[in-house]
Amino acid sequence: MDKIVSLCKRRGFVFPSSEIYGGLGSTYDYGHYGVLLKQNVKAEWWRTMLQERDDIVALDAAILMHPRTWEASGHLAGFTDPLVDCRTCKQRFRADHIETSACGRKPSKRPGETPDCDLTDPRDFNLMFQTTLGPVKESGATVYLRPETAQGIFVNFKNYLQFSRKKPPFGIAQIGKSFRNEITPGNFVFRTREFEQMEMEYFVPPDEAPKWFEHWLEQRMNWYTELGLRPDHLRLRAHAPDELSHYSSATSDVEYLFPIGWSELEGIANRGNFDLTRHAEFSGQKLEYVDSASGERYVPHVIEPAAGADRAALAFLVDAYDEDEVGGEARTVLRLHPRLAPVKVAVLPLVKKDGQPEVAGQILRELRSRMSAEYDEGGAIGRRYRRQDEIGTPFGVTVDHQTLEDHTVTVRERDSLVQERVPVTELADELERRLRAPWSSPKLARV
Ligand code: GAP
Repeated sequence: MDKIVSLCKRRGFVFPSSEIYGGLGSTYDYGHYGVLLKQNVKAEWWRTMLQERDDIVALDAAILMHPRTWEASGHLAGFTDPLVDCRTCKQRFRADHIETSACGRKPSKRPGETPDCDLTDPRDFNLMFQTTLGPVKESGATVYLRPETAQGIFVNFKNYLQFSRKKPPFGIAQIGKSFRNEITPGNFVFRTREFEQMEMEYFVPPDEAPKWFEHWLEQRMNWYTELGLRPDHLRLRAHAPDELSHYSSATSDVEYLFPIGWSELEGIANRGNFDLTRHAEFSGQKLEYVDSASGERYVPHVIEPAAGADRAALAFLVDAYDEDEVGGEARTVLRLHPRLAPVKVAVLPLVKKDGQPEVAGQILRELRSRMSAEYDEGGAIGRRYRRQDEIGTPFGVTVDHQTLEDHTVTVRERDSLVQERVPVTELADELERRLRAPWSSPKLARV
């Protein structure tokens, strides 16, 4: 993980937030390449949810919601973690994470291990951030930053039945920020207090819920493997009955083998009719589906694949990170799926003279309208390739003296290092063809 964190800072993927003031506990800023990577992760999620299906529609709900939402959802009463304070070191710990936490004093031990540790009994700590709606704190309404995007979907269920003319089974998908005042955030962007979720609520006839639960388990596992995560680093883990959330009758986590061990990437839950029933009760509105032909009415059950965009981006980075040797020199390379790579192609003149930069500039302008492309003319060609390898650019296009004679360029592949000459007139089509081709991690072949 240290290598990933250091690469992310060095190459402008992710920085600690407000760093010049010493940072702010586990909040992060995405730099240029991090923005592009996360954007690609989200675009791939939208692609499978919307573009490749016709039973799912999109939503972008407000982060601030009516406070009754959180009473109905159960978050106000139950979205808590057990908190333990140490009166000696003034640190706070999650009671259920004591075994893996470090004491606030050096040399660090487990909280409660030294005779000086003075731990309180655990008490419930609500993870929702509060703020006040309106200019006067005393008379304003207390509202919360949403701890999940899902509730924005449930409170819009009626709108969607009316405008979208969908009938169950159908889904509503949303990507957006969520906030949780985690007691022990950490492991880089794995657990932060502000993060992005990619959630889809799939409304189904009650008797079809088990079938659709299985369907979404399979779909979501496929999404990760098709985007290149190594299958042997990915698994499904069903929650034990005592782990299930208050709303769920079945949940399975997609887990990835992070450097910190097997950890949750995404949760897929059968939420039954809990949410729609509760919001109907608290709002006084009917939240049910009525079949206009048969008159049949029911409260749909909900299958929810809930993923984290930051956690997914981290998993793709971890899976992609590699070190090897090229021409006797060490190189760090991100073997990202080409569709996830922040930059698809780097255009590089071999030398900064003889008209090569001008031709390379022209090629860049042509490629740019079709894919994310970068130009680099600074330094030895080998060093420039390595800079691109480090950010995961799958293709390098080199303009050399031959280009000026026969209008061909060299296309270098990041993974195989194969170099081929391609006519400039065919370049964009050829690169697009390669970007669409199935891809699997070259790290797999080594196992
Ligand atoms: N609506 C259900 C729900 O929110 P969750 O398992 O609490 O379920 C879904 O969250 C996903 O959101 C997680 O699998 C994870 O990828 C991401 N996530 C949750 N808390 C996070 C945090 N503190 N930091 C980063 N990602 C988080």
